[in-house]
Amino acid sequence: MWVSLCTLICGVVIASAEKGPELWELNTDAHHRVVRDLADEGHIDVWGHTRQNTKVLVEPELKHRVTRALSDANISHSVVVPDVFDLVEKERENMVLKKSRRKRSAGQMDWTTYHDLDDIEGFLGWLNVTGGNNVHIASASTTTEGRPVLVVRITNPNATGPKKKIWIEGGIHAREWISPAVTTYLMHQVALSPEWRDLLDVTEWYFVPVANPDGYQFSFSSNRARLWRKNRRDNGGLIARCRGVDLNRNWSLKWGVGASSNPCSETYKGIEAFSEPETFGLQRMMNSIPDIDLFITFHSFGQTVLYPWGWTRDPPSNVKQLKGLAKKFANAVNEASGSQTEYELGGSGPLYGLASGATDDWAYGELGVPFSYTIELPDQGTYGFLLPDSRISSTVTETAAGVYCMVRSLTNTGGRCGRRQARNQNVNPRFRG
Ligand SMILES: *[C@@H]1O[C@H](CO)[C@@H](O)[C@H](O)[C@H]1NC(C)=O
Ligand SMILES: *[C@@H]1O[C@H](CO)[C@@H](O)[C@H](O)[C@H]1NC(C)=O
Ligand SMILES: *[C@@H]1O[C@H](CO)[C@@H](O)[C@H](O)[C@H]1NC(C)=O
Ligand SMILES: *[C@@H]1O[C@H](CO)[C@@H](O)[C@H](O)[C@H]1NC(C)=O
Repeated sequence: MWVSLCTLICGVVIASAEKGPELWELNTDAHHRVVRDLADEGHIDVWGHTRQNTKVLVEPELKHRVTRALSDANISHSVVVPDVFDLVEKERENMVLKKSRRKRSAGQMDWTTYHDLDDIEGFLGWLNVTGGNNVHIASASTTTEGRPVLVVRITNPNATGPKKKIWIEGGIHAREWISPAVTTYLMHQVALSPEWRDLLDVTEWYFVPVANPDGYQFSFSSNRARLWRKNRRDNGGLIARCRGVDLNRNWSLKWGVGASSNPCSETYKGIEAFSEPETFGLQRMMNSIPDIDLFITFHSFGQTVLYPWGWTRDPPSNVKQLKGLAKKFANAVNEASGSQTEYELGGSGPLYGLASGATDDWAYGELGVPFSYTIELPDQGTYGFLLPDSRISSTVTETAAGVYCMVRSLTNTGGRCGRRQARNQNVNPRFRG
């Protein structure tokens, strides 16, 4: 009797008591040696930072070690969120609720909730059919868990004049869920929206909706997995967080600067450049397309438009042009949002501290793409990676307005940008999956 009661109650208590990481704010910037060392060893996960403060995730079992290291360096900290799983749990409950409602109206993609890989692949299949000859889907490679890394080309094949080539990458970091939401929405607009239709004669788009499918799918599997960043490479060893390679530190230009050699770190760069099937396959496909004009990789969070370099603070040769096109994006977003959403612009090294092996530096420096950007989507840190789903539709429509203006400018096709454009970015098309 006692035994069975305990199996029941104790089981429940243990399950509900699994404690998640704490979110701390440190009174120092992220470049402090002690902060960098802790991150490098995988003892903290840097969530975000300003010039004065750094927010980090600390696992319960590492609290004492981290506290000691910080106090030895006279760095004080405060606890911002005592258990991040509380936030994750709220997000999950909301998603389950929405999913059960959606089931009744058959498979449907929308931009009011986050979608797992099955939903996204269902959407791609639908787009493939609906977009006819304009849409072509290929796989760049197969991940270690056997998933394809899909690339969707969208253009009007009947238009044979010169075209600007645009490569859009999303979802390279698993937990940045707003990124695949933005890439799928952009694909929808580019392929099907009347406002964008004429652009298909003068542009050729390549979309990677989810560059890290193993990591992305894993991030939907449990509360603990929600904050996963890397892919799912087995690096040997038994510690769960020591799996995976940071795919945005695995590109070959200046590989290793600002990245970690420790598999337990969130910025583990891997054993050599392009060791990972995702990055290897994507670079091979990018290399096969001559003269890509514009490259954008969507990340979260921070509301910044970053251009090269990441590995040095020196500006690149066409910094004026890079900044000019970034401004088109930022201004259009700002106007579309009714002056609510402000982006900061700058070189990623100067703004975020030096790091290399990222896609944008590689696209610019190795591939010679003249316009290469990392866009850190909303917000500015209030919710961070856990951007509420109530923010998805405004974020995707504002971002689409920004990209629209960049591409109008790049193709010299004029067109109206800003508020009106954003109003026309209607959300919620329905499709049968
Ligand atoms: C920390 O502060 C103490 C007392 O103010 C000082 O003696 C010590 O040198 C400081 N340590 C570091 C690493 O700055
Ligand atoms: C896309 O559609 C074509 C037929 O038009 C089909 O052969 C192909 O398998 C489809 N690809 C995907 C990924 O659905
Ligand atoms: C391209 O040409 C084909 C064959 O002439 C036609 O069926 C198709 O509708 C055209 N597509 C577009 C987007 O104009
Ligand atoms: C990527 O990771 C692999 C191993 O996981 C490593 O061999 C390769 O050097 C890394 N490359 C870059 C550019 O980080």
